[in-house]
Amino acid sequence: MKKILVTGGLGFIGSHTVVELQNEGFEVIIIDNLSNSSENVLDGIEAISGKRPVFEKLDLREKQKVQAFFAEHSNIGGVIHFAASKAVGESVENPLLYYENNLGVLVYILQELLKKGDSNFIFSSSCTVYGQADQMPITEDAPVKPAESPYGNTKQVGEEIIKDTCKVNPQLAAIALRYFNPIGAHPSVEIGELPLGVPQNLLPFITQTGIGFREQLSVFGDDYPTEDGTCIRDYIHVVDVAKAHVAALKRLLNTENTENFEVFNLGTGKGSSVLEVIGSFERVTGEKLNYRIAPRREGDVIQAYADTKKANDVLGWKAKSTLDDAMKSAWDWEKKIRKGTEKASV
Ligand SMILES: NC(=O)c1ccc[n+]([C@@H]2O[C@H](COP(=O)([O-])OP(=O)(O)OC[C@H]3O[C@@H](n4cnc5c(N)ncnc54)[C@H](O)[C@@H]3O)[C@@H](O)[C@H]2O)c1
Repeated sequence: MKKILVTGGLGFIGSHTVVELQNEGFEVIIIDNLSNSSENVLDGIEAISGKRPVFEKLDLREKQKVQAFFAEHSNIGGVIHFAASKAVGESVENPLLYYENNLGVLVYILQELLKKGDSNFIFSSSCTVYGQADQMPITEDAPVKPAESPYGNTKQVGEEIIKDTCKVNPQLAAIALRYFNPIGAHPSVEIGELPLGVPQNLLPFITQTGIGFREQLSVFGDDYPTEDGTCIRDYIHVVDVAKAHVAALKRLLNTENTENFEVFNLGTGKGSSVLEVIGSFERVTGEKLNYRIAPRREGDVIQAYADTKKANDVLGWKAKSTLDDAMKSAWDWEKKIRKGTEKASV
């Protein structure tokens, strides 16, 4: 079985993907610098899949270490590249950190892959590249809109770097997966999302408020042109996202790809408003959520949900879990990690 390198494999989406890869018999090596994760995640992965992946603590910004890693591991069959910084607000404050970590590192890895000859590469992209798309649901050929933040820009430019590199290097095969809104945790509750500081995403904010770690959730705007006035997103269970990576990897390993750079949306195809997500929380937990309507937040698009036909037909993959399934796993995970902790100070 092929050896697969998973960068950022101790993070939220990476750890769930490592589980699915190991369940399918792949041998996994994780590189992570623990900047947004913990080594304990290895225990969770092992508890679920019965196998502890090889782990190398390495900061991918250290180019020489990246070169040394690839020189030592000449038999890597594919790379799934999750490692990146992902806080939109922080990217506005510190753009160079984002350009170095999300783009510099990408270049270093691609340089090593080109030295290898035939290689397979999967990139974590985002629906943020579409901005406020003109049509719903969003297909892969919808135009890429000017990025709202340095973080968003790293995903657009990252895709361009890979595309340009693939154009002149037929031995490199790559897939960019544009995630919509990954949420939830593994149903075993052994791994999940570990947001540091104030969560920027809706789900962890909801569960942290639900458990009393945070006082109140602010719903940013209820006067958008949607049915209930709140913003609409496509929430997808992280285990479904993880499984799509295995499908994409197999496509490359079996040389089923029709071009050497392909792009797929990963979503459910269903948009849910903020109030619908709160409704799901209340239904699943039987608890009332303390929330208030606040002014609109700058940079929020009104609605974004995926056309999933290409991923469904070409990758042979389809998101299976419902919003309530994902909510239940997120809530079970929150209860587990929050046990005995005090209220947030910020
Ligand atoms: N979570 C989302 O909502 C979402 C949506 C769209 C795209 N993405 C992208 O998916 C990828 C994974 O996201 P996630 O939510 O799992 O994030 P995460 O922060 O949980 O995981 C990223 C992992 O990469 C590691 N890392 C960061 N910089 C590194 C470096 N220089 N060297 C080694 N390791 C490094 C971190 O320690 C962390 O474990 C990212 O590229 C992110 O931009 C995420």
